[in-house]
This record gives sequence, C-alpha cells and structure tokens, in this order.
Amino acid sequence: MATITPETLLEQLHWRYATKQFDAQRKIPAQVWSALEQSLILTPSSYGMQPWKFVVLNKDAELRERLVSCSWGQRQVADSSHYVVFTVRTEITEQDVDTYMDSIAATRQIDKSAVEPLKKMIESGIVRGLNATQQQEWASRQAYIALGNFMTSAALLGIDTCPMEGLDPAKYDEVLGLKGSGYATCVACAAGYRAASDKYSQLAKVRYTAQQVVENR
Ligand SMILES: Cc1cc2nc3c(=O)[nH]c(=O)nc-3n(C[C@H](O)[C@H](O)[C@H](O)COP(=O)(O)O)c2cc1C
Repeated sequence: MATITPETLLEQLHWRYATKQFDAQRKIPAQVWSALEQSLILTPSSYGMQPWKFVVLNKDAELRERLVSCSWGQRQVADSSHYVVFTVRTEITEQDVDTYMDSIAATRQIDKSAVEPLKKMIESGIVRGLNATQQQEWASRQAYIALGNFMTSAALLGIDTCPMEGLDPAKYDEVLGLKGSGYATCVACAAGYRAASDKYSQLAKVRYTAQQVVENR
C-alpha cells in the first residue's frame, strides 16, 4: 500500500509549530477543510464512544472576536481560517450508550443483541463506574486524541495550527450557548496559514532527546 515516506512525515512534524500569527486573509480551501473535518470525525476514542462535538467557527467574525477576550487576548482565535472548539459530553448516560449501539447496529447491519456485551461493558465501566466529573475528564482525554489527530493531519496537508488551552472554558460555554446542552468546552485549535511576520516559525524546536524520554526495554 502506498503511503508517505518516513522522511516526509518527519519533515512535516518539524515544519509544524504552534502558530502565533495567522495570515487573516488566507482561507483553507473547502476540499482541504473537508479532509480535516474527517480527521476529527475519524479519530479513535475509548470504546468508540465519540463523546464530543467539534464546534467549527469560520464565518462569524464577531463571535470570534468575543472569544479572543476569553482566550487571554490570543489573536489566533480570530485571525485563523478555521477555529475548532473541542467540546465534550458533561456526563455519559445510558442514552449515550444506546445511541452508539444503534449506530453500530445500523452501520454494520447487525442485530442490536449482538452489541449487548459491549453495551454492558461501557455501562458498568463508564456510566455507572465513573461519576459525572470523571466522565467529563474521560471524555476530555478522548478530545485530546482528536486534537492530536487534527494537528498532525493538518501538518501533513501543509496547514498551520495552534492548539489552544489558554482559554476560559466556562466563558466559552457562555458565549457559545453551551450551558445546558450536555456539552462543555475542553480545548481548541486554530487552523490556517502562518503570517510571514510570525517569528516563532523560525525558532528551533525544543524537545528532550530520545535518550531522555524513550525507554527501550
Ligand atoms: C494542549 C495544548 C495547549 C496549548 N495552548 C496554547 C495556547 O493557548 N497558546 C499558544 O500560543 N500555544 C499553546 N500551545 C502550544 C505549546 O506551547 C507548544 O506546542 C509547545 O511549546 C511546543 O512548541 P511547538 O508546538 O511549536 O513545537 C499549546 C499546546 C498544547 C499541546
């Protein structure tokens, strides 16, 4: 199967950096964005539960300016082409599990009874085994996988990103009208094209050596 070379992968991973200044005039073409949207959707999650909703802001400039003030004034929120807010379920209910079981049965054209063991496992492990705070934390861990998948996919397509934790999640929930929706803000990511003036693109990557962080046994 044809795939990219290790050299290309490393080249793009080195090319990627947390972009501080985006070129506010450049928009990601629809076809490229569509693939990036799929990188969110295709992200794996624990049990396959997908306890998230990706709120994509690419039109409403006024809304994005309001979010800048809930994000330590970081301009990436407004100047990037697309700004993704990763929101997660505030709790995991039996209804969530049931919806997912319906989805498996319909997609794979199997009887729902075939997914009963999986259903029981998720219910005991997540629905009853964790309290609401732990459920949201569990969901957040899944969202971070989507964030990583999104950034790497973007880098492979030559799209710049900035992961954003420097934000006030409660204020985001207010501005985005998420209160009472069953979803809460977890993390965000700006995507688009680096501005030529962004000096951060020239900085050497600071990473520990393999010797320091990889243990081969
Ligand atoms: C979860 C997460 C949250 C981050 N939040 C911010 C942020 O709010 N603003 C920012 O400029 N950079 C943010 N960063 C970028 C990191 O500072 C950056 O990835 C790190 O210093 C390594 O640099 P590099 O990504 O340019 O290689 C965040 C990174 C991660 C993974």
